Amino acid sequence: MAILTEVISFKDVSLNFGGVQALKNVSFDIKENSLFAIIGPNGAGKTSLLNCINGIYKPTTGSISIFEKDSKELHPDEIANLGISRTFQNIELFENMTALDNILIGAHRHVNYGPIRSLFYSKKVREEEKKARQISENVIDFLEIEEYRYSFILSLPYGIQKRIELGRALAMEPKVLLLDEPAAGMNNEETEDIARFILDIHEELGITVILIDHDMNMVMDIATEVVVMDFGEKLFQGNPADAARDQKVIDAYLGVS
Ligand SMILES: Nc1ncnc2c1ncn2[C@@H]1O[C@H](COP(=O)(O)OP(=O)(O)O)[C@@H](O)[C@H]1O
Ligand SMILES: [Mg+2]
Repeated sequence: MAILTEVISFKDVSLNFGGVQALKNVSFDIKENSLFAIIGPNGAGKTSLLNCINGIYKPTTGSISIFEKDSKELHPDEIANLGISRTFQNIELFENMTALDNILIGAHRHVNYGPIRSLFYSKKVREEEKKARQISENVIDFLEIEEYRYSFILSLPYGIQKRIELGRALAMEPKVLLLDEPAAGMNNEETEDIARFILDIHEELGITVILIDHDMNMVMDIATEVVVMDFGEKLFQGNPADAARDQKVIDAYLGVS
């Protein structure tokens, strides 16, 4: 059997919303084990790319394959079950629940018992519950958020909330992790922390990471490959150092205040 090297592949993808063309003929492949960054000014189409990957949007024309399956044939839940999890540009956590409970929700993706089975609270259900707890505790250790375990989300600083959202996505034990501006709104120290965790996720856990940012700096430090988007089009693809020197990329960033 051929070794799978591309986990996700965009082929000539366009996405229209009425008159707005969010994506225009975008093609690129994301290789397994890459730390693949997507950067570009606001409105460039970055979030739309992620929403296409996890099936919230279907391309108007063109196609996307995910582990060699056509995304048009897949429901968002099926895409998640293939091992694709994500965080959002605006934090989407349950604010009135604790950090641990939010992370447990991610871990429960692996636990499959229906309401009738859990009614009987069988041995199997207890074992699965234990497994979800174990995954959650491992994630909490990994992200160094032990001290916030029982804190309610609303009471926590923004940077920690973002880290807990990352924890929920990790608890799903993904093969591919999609991160939509994980450092948005963070101060320098929080940004350095999150960059370090993203590197560890990539290197220690071996997860393919697709990272969106509108600021080039973090990406330049950690990405293995970068695609630069502008007005729905792919401006550049290559290594981060070359992106920083590319005149089209520089112009796109200077065109934005
Ligand atoms: N659901 C939607 N309905 C209408 N327009 C949308 C929708 N989602 C995105 N867009 C438009 O598509 C373009 C790209 O948006 P987006 O992918 O969010 O960009 P980015 O994440 O790079 O800031 C923008 O012009 C945005 O207004
Ligand atoms: Mg966005």
